[in-house]
Amino acid sequence: MTTRVTAEVAVVGGTGFYSFLDAPAHHEVSTPYGEPSAPVAVGEVAGRRVAFLPRHGADHRHPPHGIPYRANAWALRSLGVRQVLAPCAVGGLGGGVAPGDLVVPDQLVDRTHRRVGSFVESGACHLPFADPYCPGVSAALASADPDVRAGGTMVVVEGPRFSTRAESRHYADQGWSLINMTGAPEAALAREMRQCYAPLALVTDMDAGAETGHGVGQEEVFATFRRNLDRLAGVLTRAIEALPDPDGCSCSTWADEVGPTYEIPG
Ligand code: ADE
Repeated sequence: MTTRVTAEVAVVGGTGFYSFLDAPAHHEVSTPYGEPSAPVAVGEVAGRRVAFLPRHGADHRHPPHGIPYRANAWALRSLGVRQVLAPCAVGGLGGGVAPGDLVVPDQLVDRTHRRVGSFVESGACHLPFADPYCPGVSAALASADPDVRAGGTMVVVEGPRFSTRAESRHYADQGWSLINMTGAPEAALAREMRQCYAPLALVTDMDAGAETGHGVGQEEVFATFRRNLDRLAGVLTRAIEALPDPDGCSCSTWADEVGPTYEIPG
């Protein structure tokens, strides 16, 4: 007899964040959208079954525009995951954020242009997305540590290059405070999978236009992330302890009315 692997909660690790669980079991999950970024690690945190998936792969093989976003979301849902915590590296655009800050943004601007951003392939199925992040998961993250800031708009750019100074100034002029390369389509796909999803953004650098110096470099991003890994893991663990019951959350009930035109596994 084979035992079905299950998890209720997932952490999707970002740049520099490739493991989270103690003594996990690793599972190869296949999906109609190909292989996920890596085998899914499953273990326990605070008495909850938690899956961990590094979105760039365990060896950072997937660049932001090459991440198998649909396979990742489908794989987690097929294990039963209903709540997703999504740490990510971001640049700061102003608005008082500084490297080392942890922020739970509440809005998203999608400036990506060559990613498949939906499971919908036929029929009328328009996702409600005015508020892109789950209020319950966001609140659990924001209250996990007094240093975590709540609110702000994250613009997601295609990458893999960093922004020019003019682009960066333009984003800052819109009042957007954070910039990253992976937050879309991940958030929308999670909601299409009826999952509660919220990001936890670690500010690794000030983006090009927000400073007068050299502009952003990859080493700076990786190094800041590495320095803050333990802190990030602590916030995630406390947030998992505080997660609300996902039953009845509008992140999943929207689908009751619309009737998705694609399969939702799990
Ligand atoms: N991820 C981390 N820092 C970033 C930046 N400045 N621009 C886009 N993505 C990032």
